[in-house]
Amino acid sequence: MERLQKVIAHAGVASRRAAEKLILAGRVTVNGAVVTELGVKVKASDQVEVDGQPLHHVAPVYYLLNKPRGVISSAKDEKGRKTVVDLFREDGVEERIYPIGRLDYDTTGALILTNDGELTNRLMHPRFAVDKVYVAKVKGVITNDQLKQLRQGVVVEGHKTAPAKAKLMSTSPDRKHCLVKLTIHEGHYHQVKNMLKAVGHPVVKLHREEYAGLTLAGLPSAGQWRKLTPKEVKVLQKLGK
Ligand code: URA
Repeated sequence: MERLQKVIAHAGVASRRAAEKLILAGRVTVNGAVVTELGVKVKASDQVEVDGQPLHHVAPVYYLLNKPRGVISSAKDEKGRKTVVDLFREDGVEERIYPIGRLDYDTTGALILTNDGELTNRLMHPRFAVDKVYVAKVKGVITNDQLKQLRQGVVVEGHKTAPAKAKLMSTSPDRKHCLVKLTIHEGHYHQVKNMLKAVGHPVVKLHREEYAGLTLAGLPSAGQWRKLTPKEVKVLQKLGK
């Protein structure tokens, strides 16, 4: 037995919150009867309809992509640019998947794609503080004091960022650039680029090494992807609870 809003979300019709609204609005029926309460549980054999359309059970899928630069982190792009979902379509994946969160057009690295709206909502919620590990090539050489500022939080667009882990990884021989590892759990637009800019080191290149403990081990080349194992999916589901 699963909660009705979860079943609707899994079928890819709407997010769990939007599914709750559909239920409250009287647009959902179970075995022909309108249900307007949120606590109702249904079994696989129950006939659920939204606006008179039967729900088809869609099995949830979970993929980890090593995102290349030059692709958009969404299912569609109004400017017609290539998206992360296009990469899967080219490989014959037909499920209606979308990325959990975003990486910028020019950022590479770990990105999860799924059709599980409920898990997406939970992992994206600031309350769950999912760790994301980035390696940034920045201009100049970062000082210990600047690393400390990043750890304590810097002001970006009027808001102080949450405490982060920050480490200098290496410095180029000409000292024009360095590599900084930053572990954060916030996910504001251009978060890492803005944090590093705030301490005087604009990002030249950005790569996400890890998302929620999932690394790119086994996916060395940009554009490669794999399915998450059932154990990895369980870990993600536990994180979001
Ligand atoms: N922070 C950024 O600035 N860009 C990304 O793509 C991800 C995090």
